[in-house]
Amino acid sequence: MENTSIVQRISQLKQQRNAIILAHNYQPIEIQNIADFVGDSLELAQQATLSQAEVLVFCGVYFMAETAYILSPRKTVLIPDSSAGCPMADMITAEALRAQKQALPGIPVVCYVNSTAAVKAQSDICCTSANAARVVESLSQQEILFVPDQYLGQWISTQTHKKMHYWPGYCPVHAAILPQHIAEKKSQYPQAKVIVHPECRSEVSMMADAVPSTSGMLRFAKETTAHEIIVGTETGLIQRMQKENPSKEFIPANSLAVCQNMKLTTLEKLQRCLEEMQPVVTVPEDIRVQAFQALERMLQVN
Ligand code: 13P
Ligand code: SF4
Repeated sequence: MENTSIVQRISQLKQQRNAIILAHNYQPIEIQNIADFVGDSLELAQQATLSQAEVLVFCGVYFMAETAYILSPRKTVLIPDSSAGCPMADMITAEALRAQKQALPGIPVVCYVNSTAAVKAQSDICCTSANAARVVESLSQQEILFVPDQYLGQWISTQTHKKMHYWPGYCPVHAAILPQHIAEKKSQYPQAKVIVHPECRSEVSMMADAVPSTSGMLRFAKETTAHEIIVGTETGLIQRMQKENPSKEFIPANSLAVCQNMKLTTLEKLQRCLEEMQPVVTVPEDIRVQAFQALERMLQVN
């Protein structure tokens, strides 16, 4: 089918099913164009709770769809490709976290949402890249175990006086952005501002003018008076910045930083999942209830 007829069919199916399409900022542009809402992890979680639709089609990676289900279990949550994982989320298991909690008794666990439902269920509170500092600051304890992203944790530690313990997880896409990439681009574009995602290595974040979430990066791109901006994140976001701000120049810190999992969503898979009403994303109820508490605490901090 031609793209235009697929798009028409998806619109029909959305109405028939009382569905909305939520898409993450790293999704392919044709998916973002057809989505009802596009945002970062925090905005998408908020949207999942606010929407009146019966069906949420989540165009992103699996943990994001799981988060939508945990927050809104009465809705049917679909994902166009259920193999769209996040390697960082797979760097920690609930069993390993339980063992670490025993080694650090009484220390609360702050869990980045890039994690499985079972890991969230073992955690005291969740955070996203947009609210991590606020979440850490909201806790009365002075010592924190931050999982699974060591780099986001290290970045947050520069903004708080808490003693932080880190899990050694990381995002392979952002870890591929190195300090020398930023230094090279800075010497080519000395006037440029530098923005990077907080999943980048700590040395990279320390070199940046701003370290926001994906939606924060899009806002920075619009608001800055700089004409050249070096961007350290998934390259799909940079294409969108360029499209939205044609008079500015956006320079990828590393043009090979692509999240292949985010690119697994296609219009064909999106249509098929609305036709067949699967793959459905669910979480066992005992785990969902515990994970809900950690997510709900995070949303209250906001
Ligand atoms: P945001 O919450 O900033 O959109 O980040 C999610 C993510 O997976 C970035 O790699
Ligand atoms: Fe996971 Fe990294 Fe992809 Fe984000 S960019 S979904 S952290 S692999």
